Amino acid sequence: MKIVVIGGSGLIGSKVVQKLAAQGHQAVAASPDTGVNSVTGEGLAEALKGASAVVDVSNSPSWEDAAVLKFFETSTRNLLVSEAAARVGHHVALSVVGTDRLSESGYFRAKIAQEKLIEESSIPYSIVHATQFFEFLKGLADISVEGDKVRLPPVLFQPMAADDVATGVASVAVGQPVNGIVEIAGPEQFRVDELVRRRLAALKDSREVIADPDARYSGAAVSERTLLPGKDARLGQTHFDTWLKSPASQPPTKPAAAAATASKRA
Ligand SMILES: NC(=O)c1ccc[n+]([C@@H]2O[C@H](COP(=O)([O-])OP(=O)(O)OC[C@H]3O[C@@H](n4cnc5c(N)ncnc54)[C@H](OP(=O)(O)O)[C@@H]3O)[C@@H](O)[C@H]2O)c1
Repeated sequence: MKIVVIGGSGLIGSKVVQKLAAQGHQAVAASPDTGVNSVTGEGLAEALKGASAVVDVSNSPSWEDAAVLKFFETSTRNLLVSEAAARVGHHVALSVVGTDRLSESGYFRAKIAQEKLIEESSIPYSIVHATQFFEFLKGLADISVEGDKVRLPPVLFQPMAADDVATGVASVAVGQPVNGIVEIAGPEQFRVDELVRRRLAALKDSREVIADPDARYSGAAVSERTLLPGKDARLGQTHFDTWLKSPASQPPTKPAAAAATASKRA
């Protein structure tokens, strides 16, 4: 199968491309660097020629409310129109467990808008809802910082390794469209503040993590189970302690790459 991965240079996208290629599929990594821009439409028609499925694991360069909404709406519209023209039979998008419960957050309003466009389109689809990536725990601290303290709600979540996310997305991409949502999650539950504290300690990041029941998650009020998947979620294999000891937990070594990521996420 020819499968085009939009955001194929990203954290999840690069792993999805590797996994699909290892299974013998023609996996095409598409991103602005390879001449495919889902916001401007550049290169889309050419990239999608002969594709059976499109996997959208792109993310907005800016997480400011208006910018992220514009990114996901424009990009998703362009993808769906180009997929219809190229007769692509399966649109797969990666979103987040609990998205529909997090509409107080500008980022999640953008993901809700993305999902609505997909559900209303004529293209058969599968939306994969993943829980928070272990790789995102420091990013979660960065978006939850007030002064020199990180304030997080002590609610439950069930995060997972990016490698397991990619395995789940790749498996959905080669299957039949479900025209609905597939949830994937990690094998263990934690409290958000507890795991971010452990992650920062491992990174020797001295910021104090405060458990604050009134703190918001990405701008949204959350309660004990808001971030948890349902009982049918497919579970990844990787436990947090195993991941923490693996190379995947190491911060980027190239200063330029680290700086670029930080400025994109600010
Ligand atoms: N963080 C979490 O815990 C979490 C949990 C569940 C789901 N998700 C979802 O997972 C998805 C992927 O996240 P990620 O962390 O893998 O993202 P990422 O590493 O930031 O990668 C984003 C990708 O999107 C590409 N991109 C940006 N603008 C583009 C454009 N105009 N056209 C085409 N491609 C473009 C980037 O290309 P460049 O390399 O050129 O910048 C990059 O390949 C997101 O949709 C997010 O909502 C995240």
